[in-house]
Amino acid sequence: MTTRHYISFRDIAKEEYEFIFQRAAHLKESRRQGHYLFPLLGGRSVGLIFNKSSTRTRVSFETAINELGGHPVVLSTSDTQMARGEAPAHTAKVLSRYLAAVAIRTYEDQELYDLAAAATIPIINALTNQRHPCQVLADVFTLLENLDNEPLEAQEVAFIGDGHNMANTWLEAAATFGFGLRVATPPGYEPDSEIFKMATAANPKVKLFSAPKEAVAGARCVNTDVFASMGQEAETAKRLQDFQGFQVNKELMALASPKAIFLHCLPAHLGEEVTAEVLDGPASRVFEEAENRLHAQKALLEFLTRP
Ligand code: CP
Ligand code: NVA
Repeated sequence: MTTRHYISFRDIAKEEYEFIFQRAAHLKESRRQGHYLFPLLGGRSVGLIFNKSSTRTRVSFETAINELGGHPVVLSTSDTQMARGEAPAHTAKVLSRYLAAVAIRTYEDQELYDLAAAATIPIINALTNQRHPCQVLADVFTLLENLDNEPLEAQEVAFIGDGHNMANTWLEAAATFGFGLRVATPPGYEPDSEIFKMATAANPKVKLFSAPKEAVAGARCVNTDVFASMGQEAETAKRLQDFQGFQVNKELMALASPKAIFLHCLPAHLGEEVTAEVLDGPASRVFEEAENRLHAQKALLEFLTRP
């Protein structure tokens, strides 16, 4: 059997996502009723390797693995021999003999592809500079929960801010699900050109704007992300300057659909990309979104590791 990896959001097909979302909804409801343990991992262990900071990803994956009857093995890259130059292929072959899957947060997608080339277990992207598929998996699930059975493909989603990992992954999601996606970034901060090309070819409702107001007009879901991501801290002052006018605030949200929800992967920098009024306001679903990481990743782990 071929090993399935989850490095790009496009590694899973639309019909497979529909199954994963159904399972996530079931696991969420069961947990609400007090049924925490679904031992789908049956005692197997899952590696979690972090080369960057994390709160949600680490805790939601550790909790998910525990509640699936598995054991999380958490490492920072500097703890491993990878930091001392062990070949990715050797690391992947060794970890494949112990673990059911490995989720990795690092800088370049290529690091995951190098491991995946030799791994016989799923390699899961827990965030890279290019992508954050586990987050957008939970985000689309959160959007679906808020749609009251309106079709997903009929929705307009706005992404305001940096064309980095979150924007790129929303583009991939728009290519998969067919909803409208309007991305507004300052010049020089556009999403990855290859991903944008792929998304516009797959879905003519994917569009790039320079004015946030145009992007949010009538949108059912408004998203943003920090202006300076992990690894870009040295550029913070310049970015704060360059992203002026790209804040999601009450005035901008007023241009979206009256039913619009606000999503943010978190952590947020209040007063920069979003105001506290929006993040803690009635349209915000950010804490539901964070919770949904747990349910969605359980369903993802079940999907990727089933025998
Ligand atoms: N949204 C997200 O991935 O959060 P963490 O960086 O806390 O894991
Ligand atoms: N774009 C952000 C997302 C954090 C979850 C970063 O990469 O730091």
